[in-house]
This record gives sequence, C-alpha cells and structure tokens, in this order.
Amino acid sequence: MSKDYDFKHVSVLYEESLEMLNIRPDGLYVDCTLGGAGHSSGILGRLDASGRLIAFDKDAEARNAASARLESVNSQANWQIISRDFADIEVALNEIGITAVDGILADLGVSSWQLDQAERGFSYGQDGPLDMRMDQSAPVTAADIVNNESAEEIAAILRNYGEERYAMRIANAIVRRREVQAFARTEDLAEVVRKAMPAKALKEKQHPARRTFQALRISVNHELAALESLLECAPRILKNHGRICIITFHSLEDRLVKEAFRSWENPCTCPRSFPVCICGKKPYGRQVGRKGIVANDEEISLNARSRSARLRCFEVISEEEQTNE
Ligand SMILES: C[S@@+](CC[C@H](N)C(=O)[O-])C[C@H]1O[C@@H](n2cnc3c(N)ncnc32)[C@H](O)[C@@H]1O
Repeated sequence: MSKDYDFKHVSVLYEESLEMLNIRPDGLYVDCTLGGAGHSSGILGRLDASGRLIAFDKDAEARNAASARLESVNSQANWQIISRDFADIEVALNEIGITAVDGILADLGVSSWQLDQAERGFSYGQDGPLDMRMDQSAPVTAADIVNNESAEEIAAILRNYGEERYAMRIANAIVRRREVQAFARTEDLAEVVRKAMPAKALKEKQHPARRTFQALRISVNHELAALESLLECAPRILKNHGRICIITFHSLEDRLVKEAFRSWENPCTCPRSFPVCICGKKPYGRQVGRKGIVANDEEISLNARSRSARLRCFEVISEEEQTNE
C-alpha cells in the first residue's frame, strides 16, 4: 500500500479544536501543522466556496499524504499547502498577499505516523537511523548533535528540552561511547541512555530514553523557537474576532502558550502601585476558557497520545470593541 493511504494519525481534541476555532464558512484559516490533514479536513468541510484554508507542514511525506486526503473532502473552498516552517507564517502569508486571517490552529509536535516510521528515527521503541528531522532537507540530525556537541551542550539540551534530571550523567555516557563508535541508530542511543540511568530511575513507568528523545527532537526541529515566532506574530495577523487555537503536548510548550496568552490579555507593564496605566499597552483580546481543554477519558482510552494534550484558545478583539464593552 502506498504511504499516502498508510498515513495513520488520530487527530487529538478534534471536535473541541474545531469548535474553539468558531469557523465562519467564508473565513480564511491557517493550519500550521497539517500532518495527516485530520484537523485541516474538518476545517475544509466547514468552509463554503468563499472560504480558504492555508496549511503548513515542513515534512514532505506528510504533505503528500495530506494533499490526497484534502482532495477527498471535495470542498468548494480554496486550499493550499505551504512547504515551510510555520515559524515563517507571517512572511509566507504576506508573500501570497494575505495580511489577516480568521483563525490559526497549531497541533504541535510530531504525528503518530512520523513516530511509527522507524526510518525517520523519532522513536526509541523501534530501531532506525538517528535522524528526527521533520524537514528531511534540514542540515542537522539527532546523530549530528550526539556525535559532535560537547557534553555540556548535550546536557543543556536534555535539561532544557527534556527536563531530564540525569542530563549530565547521560551526556557523559554519550561522549564516552562516541569516542569508541559514533552513534548512527536509535537503538544504540536508547541503550546508552538506559545504561546511564541510576537503578531507581529504571523503575519509572516511562521508557528511560523518553526525555532524551523528546529533547533531541525539539532541538533538531527548533520546535520551541517556531512556537515563539508564531506567538510573536499571531495577534498581528488575526482579524477582529479571529482565534488562535494551540494544542500542546508537554509543559515546555504549554508554558510558552499560557504566558503569551496571559500577556496578550494583560500587557500592562506599569507597577501595581500606579493608580492608572501609563505604559499604554492595550490588551489584544481575551482567552477563551482559562485553563484550556484536555482530552476526556474516552478519547484517552482510544488514543493514548491525547493524554498529555492541552488545547488553549485566544480571541483577538479590537481596541474599539473593548472600550465599548
Ligand atoms: C501532530 S501533527 C499534526 C496532525 C494534524 N493536526 C492532524 O490532525 O492530522 C504535527 C505536524 O506538524 C508538522 N510540524 C511540526 N512543527 C512544524 C513547524 N514548525 N513547521 C511546519 N510543520 C511543522 C509535523 O511535520 C507534523 O506533520
């Protein structure tokens, strides 16, 4: 069977995110993370002939499979796939003449399909080349990092992107091993990490290499930097009442989204003791649902990946409308 039809990814918080986006049939929507086109198909299905969908993915194989799926929706709406990092969303939209959109969705990280393809090297559970690039034309693989960076740099990656308690211990084990033989396979790395862990850590439910793999994947794909770029420009490119919905899968991502939404809602930097605001910074709008939405037990039982997902949404409201409220 061709990869297009093999693409298996169950969209997380599907109904909830489409509802949160508050889709207008004639609106213009951006899906930053097309993946298997699950959410994108749902958006497209809600648009009429004047609606438009722009979807980003930097993985060529995902784009191919998703394109076939979007075709099958048979929508009258216009749709387009952009092969670019969503970090460049504002520039990429400007290049095609778009300055404002009605909604943005980002379902972060990798798809189940990417994780399941051993040859893409994302998984500690299957042996494959130590790659982890979403964009296969990107210059740096996970093997490049573990084979070339200093122990201190590797430890910083594991600590900052994996919140790995044993970061230095693992980094030293990596450096010792590469002096004998460079890393090439996921299984090699998973085994070195496992052996570097103290006995008590091996008793944890999760695989000992889980945090190391997460950290390397985030570093290889500049995942947090892309999210920061999106958060930096989103309020500028959303129309009045336009919404941004972001699904995160770990606390590092969620913290960035939570803090950005909080500052968009309350950007004032004046000391609390000031009787009136003099900084002049105006809120961009309001958060929709303060704590975000998590998957219910039914979804978690059907799709384990949804266990760590959290959906947050923010609606831009014009300054004029806010003062009239
Ligand atoms: C979790 S999947 C999205 C699944 C999709 N929502 C669905 O329902 O099928 C994330 C996808 O976004 C892509 N991706 C992640 N970060 C990206 C970035 N910064 N720029 C472009 N694509 C990215 C990945 O290659 C992957 O295909």
